Amino acid sequence: MSASSPLPSEAQRLKIVFVGHVDHGKSTLIGRILHDTGSLPEGKVAAIQQACAAEGMEFEYAFLLDALLEEQAQNITIDTTQIPFRTARRQYVIIDAPGHKEFLKNMITGAASANAAVLVVAANEGVREQSRRHAYLLGLLGIRQVIVVVNKMDLVGYAEATFREIESEYGDFLATLGIEPRLFIPASARAGENVARRGQAAMDWYAKWTLLEALDELEAVTSPLDQPLRFCVQDVYRFDERRIIAGRVESGSLRVGDELVFSPTNKTAIVATIESWGETTRAAGVAGDSIGFTLREQIFVERGYVASHQTETPILANRFHAEVFWLAEAPLRKEAPYVIRLATQEIKGQVVAIEQVMDSSTLAISSGEITEVARNEVGRVTFQTRAPLVFDNHDRVPSLGRLVVMDGGTIAGGGIIFGGAYTTRAEVKSKNIVWSDSKITAQRRALQNGHRGAVVWLTGLSGAGKSTLAQALEAELFARGMHTYVLDGDNIRHGLNTNLGFSPEDRVENIRRVSEVAKLLADSGAVAITAFISPYRIDRGRAREIALEAQADFIEVFVDAPLAVCEERDPKNLYKKARAGEIRDFTGIDAPYEAPEDPEIVVPTAEQSVDESVAAILEQLLPRLRAAE
Ligand code: ADX
Repeated sequence: MSASSPLPSEAQRLKIVFVGHVDHGKSTLIGRILHDTGSLPEGKVAAIQQACAAEGMEFEYAFLLDALLEEQAQNITIDTTQIPFRTARRQYVIIDAPGHKEFLKNMITGAASANAAVLVVAANEGVREQSRRHAYLLGLLGIRQVIVVVNKMDLVGYAEATFREIESEYGDFLATLGIEPRLFIPASARAGENVARRGQAAMDWYAKWTLLEALDELEAVTSPLDQPLRFCVQDVYRFDERRIIAGRVESGSLRVGDELVFSPTNKTAIVATIESWGETTRAAGVAGDSIGFTLREQIFVERGYVASHQTETPILANRFHAEVFWLAEAPLRKEAPYVIRLATQEIKGQVVAIEQVMDSSTLAISSGEITEVARNEVGRVTFQTRAPLVFDNHDRVPSLGRLVVMDGGTIAGGGIIFGGAYTTRAEVKSKNIVWSDSKITAQRRALQNGHRGAVVWLTGLSGAGKSTLAQALEAELFARGMHTYVLDGDNIRHGLNTNLGFSPEDRVENIRRVSEVAKLLADSGAVAITAFISPYRIDRGRAREIALEAQADFIEVFVDAPLAVCEERDPKNLYKKARAGEIRDFTGIDAPYEAPEDPEIVVPTAEQSVDESVAAILEQLLPRLRAAE
């Protein structure tokens, strides 16, 4: 590389993982690419050819890769190697791991991340179990840019029929995983056909790209720079009066003067200065930079916090879905305690539901009553954490969408988060406001009260039994000497929300205000019980986020009664009026109700008594109120 062309930043290189059965010629293909693109050190090929001749062995392209890996292995002690090469068009890095397990481990834990994949299938062997397994995992990891190389075409006499058969079989399989390969390429890595140069006459039935051409056609990586800002706080240092917030810009960028929001507390402050070690102060920090900055306002920030811009905040939740690849000998068990590590956050948590488990070798899926995920299995699970976790969906911001499950101080599994709902924040109209932190901490309040504050959020149709349950639950908690208060739809609409009706916008605002009040109650140490229809899923997600900003537990209870039952009960005679057209926008009649997808608790009020429902809630609620943390 000439001095005038600067090294591209790590982010601009396309990272490719080559996957396929070892015997299908993966190493030969990589060796061939390195050779044909002139990426090997001077004299390497000659040296290996000589060594082969001396041993009376036939030269193989795979040896080139082996030799390179051996050399690297002496310097580095990681189980993934990154091998660079370049075409006329751009730079690439081949991600290589010695085996299947390492590949997955690295991919899921983020030790190595690939933007694209080349799946290698030998023409003479066809699609094997491993070809399927790898493809499944690429789908799971969200690698959508895939090229399939049907290698060893020389061994099948360059027969088009063989190629087409594999193309159709593997293509169908990949489609079931949501992967649409860019291209199937018939090739012979050994003979160098359709890798860097076009195949010989024997393959003139194939007129599309060579592998290198196809790679050059892949889309550039969405650089972490183009993703929303995520700054993960590692530490806060005090120098004299100043507090320097140190950490890494995982994605996006930040500048002096930017207003940052810190999750999980949702406090905002403006960046005053940016410093990076050993350098003079600078104006900006971008993805990949480890920097420190100071803020104009002194707000409380600590390790684990994530800074973002107001317009694109991460998700804050204590309940979320992930695909987890389990690595430990002892299986992942439902309800067992683990520590979840995500960026600089470490939070205790457990798996509360295992929706399905996939055996990574047979790809067989089991669902139903599952209580464990065994080693080398991939589980689709629901996590519940003891404190709020700040994260993103993996497909939006990969670095904040990847977690590690720790068991007894060692990595037991890795996972990627999906399906979380992003919520929008209310417009900030007030300026020049400074949060003042109370001197009385939540812990002190909990100690004095004998329990923690929390929000118990009841949602369901009008007439489902929310108010009745809320009152019965309040009575039970009160009888136990607890501080508790019910916020009820009809009551709040008499006062605080008297200016709101039932249009979608008004309902959103209704729930936003109630969420904030519930948070304040929980922050004061009380157990706030809310009884609102709260028909929109996203608003309930936001209510959860708001509660978690105050580190208050949030428990969503779906008060579930069929519409017909609610209508039959019709305690306030409103369904009748709605049916008669006297009331418009009535939930369940001519306005929507979005049932919770995975609430902490479901109480089917048409099937059980009030006492039974209250008992079911208490069973989950009481231990959580007692928890020390
Ligand atoms: S929410 O949708 O904004 O959460 P909320 O729980 O506050 O509603 O209020 C619902 C209560 O208002 C119902 O129990 C019912 O008594 C009354 N109500 C009056 N009009 C409507 C309507 N159009 N839709 C739903 N509830 C209504």
